[in-house]
Amino acid sequence: MNSARRAFADALAANDVVIEVMDARLPGASGNPMIEELRRFRNRPCLKLLNKADLADPQVTRAWMEYFNAQPGVLAVAVSAHQSGDVRRIPALARQLAPHRVGAEKPLRMILAGIPNVGKSTLMNALLKRRVAKVGDEPAVTKGQQTLDLGSGMTLTDTPGLMWPKIEHDADGFMLAASHAIGRNAVIDEEVAANLGLILLARYPALVAVRYGIGVAGLDGQGLLECVARRRGCMRKGGGLDLEKAANVFLTDYRTGMLGRISLETPESRQRMLAAVAEGERI
Ligand code: G4P
Repeated sequence: MNSARRAFADALAANDVVIEVMDARLPGASGNPMIEELRRFRNRPCLKLLNKADLADPQVTRAWMEYFNAQPGVLAVAVSAHQSGDVRRIPALARQLAPHRVGAEKPLRMILAGIPNVGKSTLMNALLKRRVAKVGDEPAVTKGQQTLDLGSGMTLTDTPGLMWPKIEHDADGFMLAASHAIGRNAVIDEEVAANLGLILLARYPALVAVRYGIGVAGLDGQGLLECVARRRGCMRKGGGLDLEKAANVFLTDYRTGMLGRISLETPESRQRMLAAVAEGERI
């Protein structure tokens, strides 16, 4: 058992409800199977927060909520950690999952978990209404575990942001890198951007066409990057297109919501991907 897993397993034993933070744009890929496995083993209910819902496609987020809410012991809601109204709802939602934890002797003990960069620190700060954790758009900013008193008979323990998912599928790795859950040094931006381009051309061609003022018919991920480079003047000093710069432009547009509200996967697309992988493994 590695140290992050052991720390989480130990912390679970002393808590009543898991609050798992996921990125609403990729709830399948940004869920950590280890969190799910350990909380089921410990029989702990889970409040799944589809955070950054402000950046995700609302229709797809609704489908994900239905998907998660059909699971036993799970309550899923879409939130934006930047919206105080969304954050205010969280303690009451967690209470619904452990109604027996009331009174001074039995405070509701919640544990906050999730992969890096899904918004745990932002949520924690908002829940505490003061700045206790460093917020940053780089993975693994939260290092230590801490338990904080939220008042009204509730505590919140946060877990180290080092809980990497076991990335079993390349598709997940690309989605996580595009959404910045995987650090800058670990991946090649151009490859990540080309893969993101493929997804967006298939799912949101109109948003891409409008953002860059281009025709997208027949484009693949690489072709899209070339168009972005031309439209945004990304040129190398000696001449030729600077695709690395174009990749950064495209990734930043996606990450900051400039392309529009986008979800990279749906419950159906995830099932299809997993079925294809299983099929491949059988062959
Ligand atoms: P972590 O603890 O899980 O690693 O994530 P953290 O809170 O550090 O958040 C990572 C980035 O995601 C931050 O961006 C944060 O503001 C942003 N973020 C968190 N929740 C939401 C949300 O609901 N919606 C949107 N749109 N963004 C969210 P940053 O650019 O580094 O920081 P900042 O300049 O926004 O503070």
